[in-house]
Amino acid sequence: KRKIILDCDPGHDDAIAILLAAGNPTIELVGITTVAGNAEVEKTTNNALKVCEIAGIYDIPVLKGSGQPLVRKRETAPDIHGDSGMDGPVLPEPTRTVEEEHAVDFIIRKLMESDGDITLVPTGPLTNIAMAMRREPAILSKIKEIVIMGGGTFGNWTPAAEFNIYVDAEAAKVVYESGVPITMMGLDLTHQALATEEVSERIAAIENPAAKFVSDLLVFFRKTYLEVFGFEHPPVHDVCCVAYCIDPSVVEAKKLRVDVETKGELTYGMTLVDVHGVTGLEPNVNVAMKLDHAKFWDMVIEALNSYTKV
Ligand code: BDR
Ligand code: CA
Repeated sequence: KRKIILDCDPGHDDAIAILLAAGNPTIELVGITTVAGNAEVEKTTNNALKVCEIAGIYDIPVLKGSGQPLVRKRETAPDIHGDSGMDGPVLPEPTRTVEEEHAVDFIIRKLMESDGDITLVPTGPLTNIAMAMRREPAILSKIKEIVIMGGGTFGNWTPAAEFNIYVDAEAAKVVYESGVPITMMGLDLTHQALATEEVSERIAAIENPAAKFVSDLLVFFRKTYLEVFGFEHPPVHDVCCVAYCIDPSVVEAKKLRVDVETKGELTYGMTLVDVHGVTGLEPNVNVAMKLDHAKFWDMVIEALNSYTKV
C-alpha cells in the first residue's frame, strides 16, 4: 500500500480527492490535514469532517493546520467554491471531531516515525508543508515524494499564477527548493481532468451517499466554472494527485526545472516551468503534462462504488 498524507482545503475537488484516497485499496490514507485556501481553515476543516462523515470514514484522523499564509494576507476563493468553501451539497454538521494535534506537528511526527515511505499530497496552499520543513528539517530525507496540485505554465488566479501557489508563494518556494522529489500536477494537466456530462451521468448512477454528494458537488462546480472561466466542464484538479499516487501511468510527465516567483509585480506566485531547458539548471520537478482521461475517471468511479449504501 502507498502511504499518503492528504493536505487539503476542501474544496469541491479536494473533497473528491479525499473520497478517491479513502476508497482505493492500494492507498493507505495516514491522515487528512487541512489548511486555509479555498476558505478559512475552520471551514476547510469542517468540510473535511463532513466529507468523512457522509462517506462513513471514521478511522482516518483529521487535523487542522495553518490559518494564514507565511507572509501574505490570506485570500480565499468564494467565487469558485462558495462561502463555505464547499457550497452546493447540503450536509449535516459532522459528529466526527478534529484531533487535538496540529497538522504541522502530525506531519512531522508521522514522517519521523516512518521508514521514509510516506508521500505528501498537498492540494491546497503549501503553508503546512513549508512550516513542517522549517520546524523540523530532518523530515526532508524522510519524505518519499511530494505530489502537488499547483502551478503550471499559465495561471487561473492571475494570468501568471495558479491559486494554490499564489495564496502562499513563499511557502511554495520553500517546498520547491527543498530538494525533495516533487511531482507537480499543474493546470496544464488538471484542466484535462474534466467532469464531462458522460462522467457526471456515470456518477449519478451510483447509489450511495458518497456518490450522491459528488454529484451535488459537480453541479455547483460546473456552474461556477462556467460563470468564472467559461468552461463547459469543471476540472477536478486535486483528484489528479491521488490518481497519480494510485497509478503513475495515469499521467505522462517530464522532469523540468521549476522555480517560484515571489517578487514579481505582475507575476507573484508564478511557477516558471523551464520547458525548453533554457536556464541550464538541473531539473527539480516531475511535471505532469498529459492525462489518461478514461483511466482517471474509471479509478474515481471504482472508488465511489466502494462506499456503502444506506
Ligand atoms: C486549485 O485551487 C482550488 O480552488 C482547487 O481546490 C485546486 O486545489 C486549482 O487552482
Ligand atoms: Ca484544493
